[in-house]
Amino acid sequence: AHAGLVLGIESSCDDTGVAVVTASGRVLGESLATQAEVHAAWGGVVPKLAQEAHEAAIDGCVEAALAAAGVAPGQLSAVAVTIGPGLSLCLRVGVLKARQLAAQHQLPLIPVHHMEAHALVARLGATRFAAVAAAQEAAAGPAAVAAAAAAAAEPAAAAAAAEPAEAEPAAAAAGPHVEFPFLCLLISGGHNLLLLVEGIGQYVQLGTTLDDALGEAYDKVARLLGLDLMPSGGAALEAFAARGDPKGVPLTVPMRGRPSCDFSYAGLKTAVRLQIEERCPEPTADNEQVRADIAASFQRVAVQHLEERCRRAVQWARESHPEVRHLVVAGGVAANRYVGSRLTAVAAEGGLELVCPPPRLCTDNGVMVAWAGVERMQLGLMEPPPATSAPAEGE
Ligand code: KG4
Ligand code: ZN
Repeated sequence: AHAGLVLGIESSCDDTGVAVVTASGRVLGESLATQAEVHAAWGGVVPKLAQEAHEAAIDGCVEAALAAAGVAPGQLSAVAVTIGPGLSLCLRVGVLKARQLAAQHQLPLIPVHHMEAHALVARLGATRFAAVAAAQEAAAGPAAVAAAAAAAAEPAAAAAAAEPAEAEPAAAAAGPHVEFPFLCLLISGGHNLLLLVEGIGQYVQLGTTLDDALGEAYDKVARLLGLDLMPSGGAALEAFAARGDPKGVPLTVPMRGRPSCDFSYAGLKTAVRLQIEERCPEPTADNEQVRADIAASFQRVAVQHLEERCRRAVQWARESHPEVRHLVVAGGVAANRYVGSRLTAVAAEGGLELVCPPPRLCTDNGVMVAWAGVERMQLGLMEPPPATSAPAEGE
């Protein structure tokens, strides 16, 4: 029997993710249905279509995760679900399913903040990351990912028991490796946050974006460059930028004159748009090199902005919180290898270790929600199971 099994559900944007995770952070089963293909054709996430795709996928995803884990719903300790921030039409699908499961099997419900889940998944433990990454790679090669997207109606289950079921090695069971407090950079499609994470639900915000999030800027530039937005605009741009000259096009790093930990990407986005309008208004084979140069230059400058803000935060932490040992970088854009390598250097300069979850745990997924649920459950931060009937008279 498993003590402390949490099923987590994520449906805040365009991925339906479900996972079953143990209290010690073993991923027993996972399933992910991505809708990238549905939205790529429209150039962005269409909430109504996303809601329909979540509705079509959710039951199958839950079943697939439970089946991969070899667990019946009655064996769960709790159900965790993302309650926001995100698209309300989409969030509703996950919350409804979680409430159904909680009611049917008399389970506590754990409401999870999407960005907290992105941050806490780093505490799943570095020792586990390799195993998760390997299992996911095996379960979801490029073909599986494409099939998953094409069949959003069908729960595209990249279901995998991420670790062998045998007894855990003592080191892996020793618990989370990233201790509080830690510095955290969250970079996704909707958020750009620098935080000092002091504990569950205890965050000091050091900086945020004054306009766009970095993922949003990546998506916008990918669209302007006429890229195929698969599996996401950001991932497509990263791949395309590899062919370009990162100094090929002059662009300025945002907010140089304003020392803070805040971010701004609107100006850079506009500068890139003007470059594209001037040099390659229509994507053609002839202007492919110019476009790749623009992609690479955008990425270099956008990430340089991240580096400068993180350097400042690391310096601040060194002086005021010398117990901080890690810089965690998470959220969809943290799947980017260039981002990871540049920020590894920034962390090291300041005497910190960079912790960046494997790509599949950076972009939206059910594992991070289940794990955030485990962390909250351990503090008793959950709603009791819903009452099935009114208490009898005299009770
Ligand atoms: O965390 P996430 O999956 O969803 C939100 O909470 O927003 O982040 C999605 C964002 C998208 O903007 C996507 O383009 C970006 O993360 N992204 C990337 C990469 N993979 C995903 N951006 C840059 N490079 C990548 N490899
Ligand atoms: Zn996210």
